[in-house]
Amino acid sequence: MKPFFLSTPIYYVNADPHLGHAYTTTVADAMIRFQKLMGKRTFFLTGTDEHGDKIVRAAQHRHTAPQDYVDVISARFQTLWKELGVDFDDFIRTTEARHVSRVQQFLQLVFDRGDIYHGEYGGYYCFGCERFYTEKELKEGLCPDHLQAPEFIKEKNYFFRMSKYLEPLRKHIEANPEFIRPERYRNEVLGLLREDLGDLCISRPKSRLSWGIELPFDRNYVTYVWFDALLNYVTALEWPDGERFRTFWPEAQHLVAKDILKPHAIFWPCMLLSAGLPLYRHLNVHGYWLVQDTKMSKSLGNVVDPLDFARTYGRGAFRYFLLREMQFGHDASVSEDALVNRFNADLANDLGNLFSRVLSMTRKYFDGRVPEPGPIRVEDEEVHVLAAECLENYQELFGRFQFSMALEALWTLVRILNKYVDASQPWALFKQKRQEELGTVMYTLLEGMRKVAVHLWPVMPEESEAMLAQLGEERPAQQWRHLADELLHWGLLEPQTKVAAASNLFPRVELKTPEAAGVPAAAARQGKAEAFPVTSFHTAELLDFEDFQRLDLRVGTVISAQPVQGADKLLHLGIDLGEDQARSIVAGIAQHWSVDALIGRQVVVVANLKPRKLRGVTSQGMVLAVHAPEGLQLLGPSKQVPPGSRVS
Ligand code: ME8
Ligand code: MG
Repeated sequence: MKPFFLSTPIYYVNADPHLGHAYTTTVADAMIRFQKLMGKRTFFLTGTDEHGDKIVRAAQHRHTAPQDYVDVISARFQTLWKELGVDFDDFIRTTEARHVSRVQQFLQLVFDRGDIYHGEYGGYYCFGCERFYTEKELKEGLCPDHLQAPEFIKEKNYFFRMSKYLEPLRKHIEANPEFIRPERYRNEVLGLLREDLGDLCISRPKSRLSWGIELPFDRNYVTYVWFDALLNYVTALEWPDGERFRTFWPEAQHLVAKDILKPHAIFWPCMLLSAGLPLYRHLNVHGYWLVQDTKMSKSLGNVVDPLDFARTYGRGAFRYFLLREMQFGHDASVSEDALVNRFNADLANDLGNLFSRVLSMTRKYFDGRVPEPGPIRVEDEEVHVLAAECLENYQELFGRFQFSMALEALWTLVRILNKYVDASQPWALFKQKRQEELGTVMYTLLEGMRKVAVHLWPVMPEESEAMLAQLGEERPAQQWRHLADELLHWGLLEPQTKVAAASNLFPRVELKTPEAAGVPAAAARQGKAEAFPVTSFHTAELLDFEDFQRLDLRVGTVISAQPVQGADKLLHLGIDLGEDQARSIVAGIAQHWSVDALIGRQVVVVANLKPRKLRGVTSQGMVLAVHAPEGLQLLGPSKQVPPGSRVS
């Protein structure tokens, strides 16, 4: 079976991630999990784009050095993906040495082929997009994406002979209708190719911008950020001769939103053609998440924090919402209302009810065990046939990125099963002691539910596993039957398997505003403190509440850790406290904690200690720890929280 490679864009680290980024990355994660269940060997690549003008501007704005700044924001992306249940294989950062050296190697190759020349160019440059616009592309003189006036820039630069490859590219797109999909974006690209696109400026003079990858053939220039960024897709695979590259590049697919269609559909294939590399298989393009009809964007400042939703409603429900609510390729609007409606209608009502009623009937009629099915009647056979149809549609649509329609097909099955309960009335069969028919009905339902749960794994992995556990499945997902088998076989559930006595997977939710989430519980606890009878204390001296409040305790994420010269107990930590720059903290934990175990971990920091110097290193705070019999334990939150959250 062919392997499967999927990438997300590498996101700019000029601001924190928002729901738009979370969507693309969640889609990629769901697709990778789907392909795994189809039995494929997969590779999932994501990362961050860290060079260029706009990163320098963002760092300057915060009075931070670019490298320190990108370290902090890149770590936030990684933390977010962990919290959203995203399981990538590699996270590439364009400031990493493995990327930089290969970009230079690629540039040299293209240069040696005669596809790079020196020349002069003047044009309208949008710093938000990091690219030149032609006058025709501007909307009333403004960048159509950022709604800001571009700057006119004229300078001597290096150019990539893109024009040489535009015609071969057009032919490739004509011959491969699915190269760019959905079709509307293919048409858009063919339209662009009808214009005179010319060559691509691929350098920036160091006099204007030095934060980039130096050109190997002229040290006075750095590489244009898009030429650098697009190459991540092959540098991460260890181009030119890595095993990863050989295995996965022939089956590469990219996933992007329409904002970056042009670089992916035109620049990138031309670069590949020039270097003599095969083109990717598919470019999958989605639309925008809108907030009140406007694209959600960090430049426009109307962003939704994905964690607000994921924390309030559960990450599975949030992932379901993202995939169900947007028709892949089209724009969609996000609102908390829409999420709550989806949750209650699809998850609480349709799916949750099915599980809860069928499991409780199994407990009543068969002592909580999967019954032996009796003879199959016409109405049971009908359910089997319809189920196979729904699942086939689901698999076919999911594989083509049509997630919303795929889930609709799966929910058709959920509704068929609910209707089958109503029509076959197991309670009446039980009363009338028609055990064999009752066995067939309950078996059909449980097997149908099992199939729904397995198919939901790409979308809601944890909830899917919980559903399967309720149905007595104990093996991890990797050991389940492949989806293709699920289609062919009815009856994978073993009779006599013990199932859960009850199920309450998706209790109905009320609309909660993200700001209010979590606050009432904490407030209530504080008010009630006096109700607890206090009999003894560990401490002699009691503090006023105000004394305690003077301590600024915060949760931070460890983003770097290194030994301190000449002190074998000390580690020098960089901790993201949600500030512009990582906190430098020296902690006496080197003998208990390895660097690897620390990176990404959340710890509690005393954030308002006066800075001190320890062995020549300034420490701007303290990390809280406990000495336990089995070693030093670090204090942290029970779940990931945004860096900088105050402990109260
Ligand atoms: O363009 N709706 O990075 P970026 C849907 N570094 N998706 C959205 C979105 C929205 N409102 N906003 C952002 C860059 N996205 C370059 C990419 S790749 C070699 C270099 C998602 O941080 C979507 O995937 O601006 C979009 O394509 C991407 O974020 C742009 O991220
Ligand atoms: Mg952008």
